[in-house]
Amino acid sequence: MAEGDQALDGFRLAFEDGFDGSVRAVRDPAVDSALLSCTADRVAEEDTLDTPVDDDAAVDHGTYSRAVELRDILQRRRMVRAYAPEPVDRVVIERIVSTVRRAPSAGFSQGQRLLVVTDDGTRGAIGELLGDRQWVTEAPVLIVVGVREDDYHERYRKPDKVIDGAEIEWPVPYWHFDAGAAAMLILLAAIDEGYAAGLFGVFVEAMQPFKQLLNIPDEIAVACCITVGKAADDSSWDALTSRLTQARKPVDDLVHWERWG
Ligand SMILES: Cc1cc2nc3c(=O)[nH]c(=O)nc-3n(C[C@H](O)[C@H](O)[C@H](O)COP(=O)(O)O)c2cc1C
Repeated sequence: MAEGDQALDGFRLAFEDGFDGSVRAVRDPAVDSALLSCTADRVAEEDTLDTPVDDDAAVDHGTYSRAVELRDILQRRRMVRAYAPEPVDRVVIERIVSTVRRAPSAGFSQGQRLLVVTDDGTRGAIGELLGDRQWVTEAPVLIVVGVREDDYHERYRKPDKVIDGAEIEWPVPYWHFDAGAAAMLILLAAIDEGYAAGLFGVFVEAMQPFKQLLNIPDEIAVACCITVGKAADDSSWDALTSRLTQARKPVDDLVHWERWG
């Protein structure tokens, strides 16, 4: 992409997303490393995602009232489809995936399940299975986001959840919703750790062999997979991806106020 276009894209994003500051698309690896790198004064220790297991006591929301850097993270949020080969430290991966414990879930059913794949051979086999998605194999970390639907049925058959003695009628499949919520946290946490992330779906025809390859039980539905690693130049993807073939819809098309229209 020409430099002018890139600047224009940054401007357009800033304008369309309604952020105050300028928004730089993360696509130049030289810029990426700066955009995606940790800053010294980022998250106070008490706000880190690496929380102890016994952290479920009622929280004082006052501690969350000060400004955090979510805005910065959102400015960097986009799917990256090329990765440098350097591995991600295990402890960093653990922090990223442990955000699943902070994901909302219907009735606190906690049906989300993650599978982390770092092994070269396995990632290669996944790449082969899924076809022409080189970035999937390149990324040093692959996180399968799954969900166990039965966790929801089991939870909503408990006494505090049943209505007239029966499980609720589900307005939408909350398990899929929760898988998406967990995926979003992973995407954001990866950026917070100074890495880039991408997301892809497993097509229906590849699902069985994919689950077989990774020994994923039948009761787990695979919602999506997330790649994590240092961003490389994926500008050749730009013309191909939906993000650049589809115009970003204006906020007014997406957000209604008080009444619908
Ligand atoms: C459920 C879901 C499935 C997706 N599947 C793929 C995929 O298979 N391959 C891919 O390159 N991108 C995939 N994407 C990424 C979208 O194309 C991308 O989010 C969209 O174009 C907007 O671009 P951005 O996320 O970079 O802003 C998927 C995103 C979602 C939410």
